[in-house]
Order: sequence, then C-alpha cells, then structure tokens
Amino acid sequence: MSIVSGRDAVSSRKNPSPNILIVDDEPDIIELLELTLARMGMDVVSARSLDEAKQLLQSKRFQLCLTDMRLADGEGLDLVKFIAQFCADLPVAVITAHGTAENAVAALKAGAFDYLAKPVSLKQLRDLVKSALNLPPMAAHAVPAASSQSNQRVLLGESQPMRQLRATIDKLSRSQAAVYISGESGSGKELAARMIHERSARHQQPFVAVNCGAIPENLMESEFFGYKKGAFTGAEKDHDGFFLAANGGTLFLDEVADLPLAMQVKLLRVIQEKQVRRIGESQEKNVDVRIISATHKRLNQCVETGQFRQDLYYRLNVIELNMPALREMREDIPLIATAVLEKLCRDAARPVSSFTKGALAKLVNYDYPGNVRELENILERTLALCGEVQIGEAELQLPVATKEAKSSIPENINLILPDLDSGLPLQDYLDQLEKDSIIKALNISRYNRTKAAKTLGITVRSLRYRMERLGLNENV
Ligand SMILES: Nc1ncnc2c1ncn2[C@@H]1O[C@H](COP(=O)(O)OP(=O)(O)OP(=O)(O)O)[C@@H](O)[C@H]1O
Ligand SMILES: [Mg+2]
Repeated sequence: MSIVSGRDAVSSRKNPSPNILIVDDEPDIIELLELTLARMGMDVVSARSLDEAKQLLQSKRFQLCLTDMRLADGEGLDLVKFIAQFCADLPVAVITAHGTAENAVAALKAGAFDYLAKPVSLKQLRDLVKSALNLPPMAAHAVPAASSQSNQRVLLGESQPMRQLRATIDKLSRSQAAVYISGESGSGKELAARMIHERSARHQQPFVAVNCGAIPENLMESEFFGYKKGAFTGAEKDHDGFFLAANGGTLFLDEVADLPLAMQVKLLRVIQEKQVRRIGESQEKNVDVRIISATHKRLNQCVETGQFRQDLYYRLNVIELNMPALREMREDIPLIATAVLEKLCRDAARPVSSFTKGALAKLVNYDYPGNVRELENILERTLALCGEVQIGEAELQLPVATKEAKSSIPENINLILPDLDSGLPLQDYLDQLEKDSIIKALNISRYNRTKAAKTLGITVRSLRYRMERLGLNENV
C-alpha cells in the first residue's frame, strides 16, 4: 500500500496552511472543528467515515488527523492503528465521549498523539493543534547507535532490549500520554524521560525534574503549586512551583512512590483539572504539562499495600516503560563501558584509556546492582587511581560477589574523621563528615539507598534529602 506520509518533509511544518483531516460522522462537530481550525489558518478536509478517511490518507498529505472514537463503519481506534502502521509520523488525536477514559487510554496505547474529551474545549483544541504541529520530524530524531560524540545523551546499547526500548521511546515521544518508567536504581530512568521530552513536541519548553523523595513534607505544597508573595511568613516574592515552571513542557516526577498520600490527592486533582492554584491566590491558572513519572519501587505493589492511590496510579501509568537492568544486557557492557570511559577521559582532558581483554571480561561478568550508574562510578574511581593508559583487571577493583558482600555489611560504619585542625568552618566540616558517611554507606550497600539508609539509621526520605542538599545525587 502506498501512503503519503504526512510529515516526511520538514518544510511541511513551515507550510503556512497545514492540512488537517477531521473524521467524524456528526455534521455539527465537523462544522465546529472546521470553523475553529480555519480561523487558525489551517486547511481542513473532512471525512464522514473510516473508509473515506483511509482513502484520503492515501491521496493527500496531512500534518494532523482528528478523529471521533465512534464512526458509522468502525472505531476511531482502528484509524489510530491504521495510521500507526502506515503513516507513523502523522499525529492523530481522538475525540472521546465524556467519561470514557478507557477509550482515551486505549487510543494512547495504540499510538494516538493525544485525546480531547467531549464537549470539546476550543482552548484545548487549539493547544493540541499547536503541539502536534510542533513535533520534530521523525527522521531528524532517529537515535544514533552509539553517540558518545553527540551532545544529546542517549541510552546506549545494541542488545535487543535496548533497541526495543529506544523504538518505544521514539513512539512515545510523539504522544502526550503520561508515561511511567519502572526499573532498578541507576538503570537510566531519568535519561529515558529526558529523551522522551527532547524528541517530543514540547522539546522547546521546559523539562522540570522533581525528586519527590527529597522534598520535606511541609514544603511539598508550596514547591509543587507555588505561592503568592505574603501568603505565609517567608514568602517574600511570588513563586511559581513545579507545575507552572513546567507549563507547556514536561514534569518528571522521580521517585513518585515516595509522595505522601495527602499530596497524592492534590496532585491527582491538578492533573485531572489541568489547573493549579498558588497558595494565597484565589484564581486558578491553566497548566498544560506532560507527566512522566518513575520509581525504582514496584508501584503496583505500593497500590496493593495502600501506600499509593490507585486512581493516581492509573493516571500516571497510561503507558509503562521498563528499563532493563544492565546485567540483562551483558552484551552491551563493553560498548557502554567504553563510551563512559572515553567521556570520563575527555572530561578530565587526559589521553583516552582502554581496557585489557581481561578487564573487559571482568566488567561483563559483574552483576551491577547499581546498574549503569554503578558502572560509571567504578570507572571514575578506576581512572582516579590508575595512571596507566590501559586499564587491567586489578585496577578495576570490582566489589566481591553480592552474596559475600551482604554478610560483610557492618552494623556501624567506622569513619576516618576529617582533620579537625583543617581550618574548615564547622558547617563545612560537618557536611564533609555527613558526605563521607553517606558515600561509604552507599558503597557498602552497592548503591542500594534503602540499605544505605538502614545502615545510617535514617529514613530513605531523609537520605535522599541529605544527598540532594550535599549535591550527591548526580555522582552517586
Ligand atoms: N543505556 C545507557 N547508556 C548510557 N548511559 C546510561 C544508560 N543507562 C543509564 N545511563 C547513565 O547512567 C546514569 C544513571 O542514569 P539515570 O540517572 O537515568 O538512572 P535512574 O534509573 O534514574 O536512577 P535512580 O533510580 O537511582 O534515580 C546516568 O549518568 C545516565 O546517563
Ligand atoms: Mg533517577
């Protein structure tokens, strides 16, 4: 079948009159959509049935398709599937009857760009059209195989799971659906979230990453929703909060399982209403954010144990992306290790090192409970300690097998105290002490934060908060 791809020419987006296909069997709705879109300067073609729409798609180039879910000769969902198969780069949005959230979710899962609920809000329609026309062309955002040279960070790896994952990320980028990213610590959840954003229609808008486990509970509301000057003691000027800061872009809710229940309710409301009210303000403000969430915990289990609200879970988890653990893609370890090593050498402006065969074999056979982040840490430490250009097995100092390591976790950590005469101000001295204890506990627990917190006798939330404060999150 030959289908004219709607978005194969980059110039099509610069076209002064983008072509839009409307598929609906209700004349009133067609008229309303035609009028609104024509006012936005669009060329509108309408089809009354699935068949007619398919024929038009084969004969004409479109930049967006809007379809009703229920048509005389079939389901809008079938058209979404047809477009996903034959003109994957054409964004298609569905119009759903009020209160049929399952339909919208099914359409998003099948590859729809977004949905509009009836009665159609003209503001939402205009926003949707603008976003869809802002999608980067597909060819330009193909993920380079191993782009250690490129500025944009991408998930590296040529194994089947990694290729599959990148293909899914590409598809998800062309939709507005909420994505929930699961996976072990250090497996690339945040990197995946950034990739989705950078390839999406929102790429020129902000990406705001929030570590939900690191915000003290009493500050949550003001951090998320913002406040007006004078709303409470200490509110010296207006503050937007995460939702408004991410407006038009993507809000990444990291460690989402750590949100307290009371906050979950408030978050759900904002996501549903698409409106936020800053503390101390009476007016609600419209917000348009795409939500991507992640946690290394099993969110469905948190729902079962009552720690996470089911309604919020369904809102966040429209599409799930699971990050494979590094040990599940061992064949990628040489490629990733080499790319990481090259980057570390470049950053340190030193000659690029390489691994001996034995060192590579050791790296491939290690289990990485802390995944790629642990690999990065191992290589950073190795480089710091080893002056050689070739890195051998001994230089890697890989931790012993996990089972032995478990029994060697001490009850208390003995620290070598920094020198009190070092002249450091007390706060810096204490920070250094705190930092050393945390790093040590994390090393012993193989970067398992739950275990590290236990060893330190603090809660995971407190550990995250301290790490954030000490600037440890990027490196540990
Ligand atoms: N496939 C990969 N290719 C290259 N780099 C990767 C890959 N996966 C992860 N990384 C790198 O590993 C580090 C950890 O990734 P990231 O922060 O995205 O993990 P995470 O799953 O969010 O971890 P956590 O659960 O601890 O928050 C980052 O520096 C990231 O760039
Ligand atoms: Mg993360």
